[in-house]
Amino acid sequence: MSEAWPVAIAQGWHPLAALDALGSKPVARRLMGTLVVLFLSAGKPVVMLDRCPHRALKLSDGCVRGGAIACPYHGWRFGADGRCVEVPGSDEVPAVSARVLPVEIRAGLVWTCLAETPPPFPRLPALLDDPALDHFRWLVAPSRMRLLDGIENMLDASHPHYVHPWFLRGTGKRRAMRVEVSLGPDGAQAVYHENARAEGIMPRLLEGKRTVSIGRYFPPTIGQLEFRTDRGLSVSLTAIFVPEDTDLVRPYALFSTRRGIAPNWLKRWVLKAFNLPLLRQDQRVLADQVEALKDWGAVDFAIGPADLIGPTVWRLANGRPQAVEQREAILYL
Ligand code: FES
Ligand SMILES: [Fe+2]
Repeated sequence: MSEAWPVAIAQGWHPLAALDALGSKPVARRLMGTLVVLFLSAGKPVVMLDRCPHRALKLSDGCVRGGAIACPYHGWRFGADGRCVEVPGSDEVPAVSARVLPVEIRAGLVWTCLAETPPPFPRLPALLDDPALDHFRWLVAPSRMRLLDGIENMLDASHPHYVHPWFLRGTGKRRAMRVEVSLGPDGAQAVYHENARAEGIMPRLLEGKRTVSIGRYFPPTIGQLEFRTDRGLSVSLTAIFVPEDTDLVRPYALFSTRRGIAPNWLKRWVLKAFNLPLLRQDQRVLADQVEALKDWGAVDFAIGPADLIGPTVWRLANGRPQAVEQREAILYL
């Protein structure tokens, strides 16, 4: 590992790939600087350290035969339990194993954990399993950001005017908005009482009159945005932030929308088309933040009146307590 990761991140469960994306070839991933490989053995996903015990070659550069992964150098094969099952050219098999990591399949994703003793699987948003909604995934390439800054960015309502002008908020006069904030050991939530036709281009086209928007933090690595009209949920975006390396994060975006507005393929197309420029804008500012921090090293961040959820992200990700707290704020958004 290339840095001291916050304890709840280091010990946490992280997705590595969509289950339905796994096929006959091994998939290489990086998790907190550790190389891992995924493959299917008898139809079940297996995750191992991506290092052959023989001479340390990457197993992900090999192939899968008979449910075992074969190293590209001398062809040693390792089964789903990590044990070596074949040394080509010999009847003998040494008692060596590749290290196998635990696997959980949730929300259609294959998750693993690098901790010696994995903690219980974290709480996932219930909405991801709601059969009454349409769901789709949006998998994008990793980009430069610090993990906790990426999570905070998603849940921060005060940057869109600057980073996403026209897209999410209007550029005219701001409106007063009551915000209910709930914090606690299980996460954080901020409910913005909007009660108006949203002003940005995207919400205008997709939603009409918005009643509330909600930002939620599910520790340690999940952010969720939910937008509601008086007909209920219009769209929700859940993002799972995976720390691939220092300053390199791969987000898994899961969209959930109300049925009946439009066919799922059309919503998928429209939401991706609208969110791509937003993603690029956020990626740019988060990469700039990485650069800025290089000049200053570890600095303490000031906490402003609109930083409703960020401090809870820092606390819980670092294994520090978050007291139960309910309060209201007025913001002009
Ligand atoms: S390095 Fe893997 S089999 Fe030799
Ligand atoms: Fe943003």
